[in-house]
Amino acid sequence: MELPFAEPYRIKSVETIRRTTRTERERAMAAAKYNLFNLRSEEVFVDLLTDSGTGAMSSAQWAEIMLGDESYAGASSYYKLKAAVKEVMGFDFFLPAHQGRAAENVLMSTLIGPGREGAGKVVPGNSHFDTTKGHIESRGARALDCTVDEAFDPELERPFKGNVDLGKLEAVFTAHKREDIPFCIVTVTCNTSGGQPVSMENIRGVAALCRRHGVPLFLDAARFAENAYFIKTRERGYADKGIRDIAREMFSYADGCTMSSKKDGIVNIGGLICFREEELFRRTSTYNIMYEGFNTYGGMAGRDLGALSVGLREATEFDYLEARVGQVARLGSKLVEYGVPVMKPFGGHAIFVDAKRFLPKVPKEEYVAQTLGVELYLEGGVRGVEVGTLLADRDPDTRENRYPALELLRLAVPRRTYTNDHMDYVAAVCANVFARRESIARGYRILRESEILRHFTVELEPAR
Ligand code: F0G
Repeated sequence: MELPFAEPYRIKSVETIRRTTRTERERAMAAAKYNLFNLRSEEVFVDLLTDSGTGAMSSAQWAEIMLGDESYAGASSYYKLKAAVKEVMGFDFFLPAHQGRAAENVLMSTLIGPGREGAGKVVPGNSHFDTTKGHIESRGARALDCTVDEAFDPELERPFKGNVDLGKLEAVFTAHKREDIPFCIVTVTCNTSGGQPVSMENIRGVAALCRRHGVPLFLDAARFAENAYFIKTRERGYADKGIRDIAREMFSYADGCTMSSKKDGIVNIGGLICFREEELFRRTSTYNIMYEGFNTYGGMAGRDLGALSVGLREATEFDYLEARVGQVARLGSKLVEYGVPVMKPFGGHAIFVDAKRFLPKVPKEEYVAQTLGVELYLEGGVRGVEVGTLLADRDPDTRENRYPALELLRLAVPRRTYTNDHMDYVAAVCANVFARRESIARGYRILRESEILRHFTVELEPAR
């Protein structure tokens, strides 16, 4: 018989997780004010809140932890990372930061300004991640979403639904003066629109357009390796290329990138800002020193720089990516089998459940995807995250809720952390809630929220 697929790693160290009763979960959820971020991790059985910083490091990475050089300046761990950044991403200049949003803060301080210098400015791209949008909008500028329309049809099977619509981008470039467009940012893969990849052809097209209009192009590279895997497996001409060759080509079209290395760096904390040109690197390093730390550590411990140098290489191994993306797809396929509406094609790091179709009776004013998230937790201790109206925040001018085209519940799979049995468990939990969906007609209302990034701290109560 044909041999089945099996993970290209085995487990050396385990961490116990505990199942809870429905009564315990009801109590925990009420105490958490119906915000999944407020749960204690001990109250969660399978935690799919995020794939960020939750991956399992390899024995080679743990070895680097022990070898970490904690010198303030010029640590050997920094030079190991520098070599890995060059080899895997192709950049000569980079600054470490403690995580992705810190990298965004530093880079945007240079490109937009450290204060509210952004008034009247726009930053186009595919759907910006919430912290990226936060850093743009808190500076007074606007993040303009130029994602292709097909991204907003959750049923449509297209290979690169993270792509930028070049027509929309061109329209932004012609409607605004060059000096009002500090940069363009393309997120690979596009988390906010469902973990969908961006094709090489599209990156190339965006880069050409940016160059023509004199606008710098940056990648948000949090999941660049998964994006490279999709290019290899879906885009004509790339099947025989290596993941790292593809990654370097992706980056070759950009002036630089920010990266949360908690994703495709497979480390628990860390971030990067990479640059093609030395001049921008120099200007930005001043802000990095102010906000993060000296250029050779930037908010990271030496041991974490070392672990990241290994993680970047491991995350760009084809066998690893095949298992990683395959495990996410296994969860997706099970859900489809059970009739649960999910976004297609499956994302690289997560399955996005279409909450509007799952719970059609819950009014949009009562936070549909959040309601679904609470139900999955109550059913089986599974924690996902809302990617819907709460995440979309209010319009900065009108203070009205912004209702996004899609209300999604994201089930993000940590790297190398859970087994396929866990995926089957999660799918069964979803199937059980789906079976009683008719009885779920009301959602939640907000008791307390913050002005931006409200989903992290929002407090809710059941709507009646
Ligand atoms: N960009 C993207 C595309 C992200 O997904 C994230 C984080 C960031 C930037 C910010 O990085 O967390 O290291 O500061 N995403 C996590 C998530 C939080 O759950 O998707 P960070």
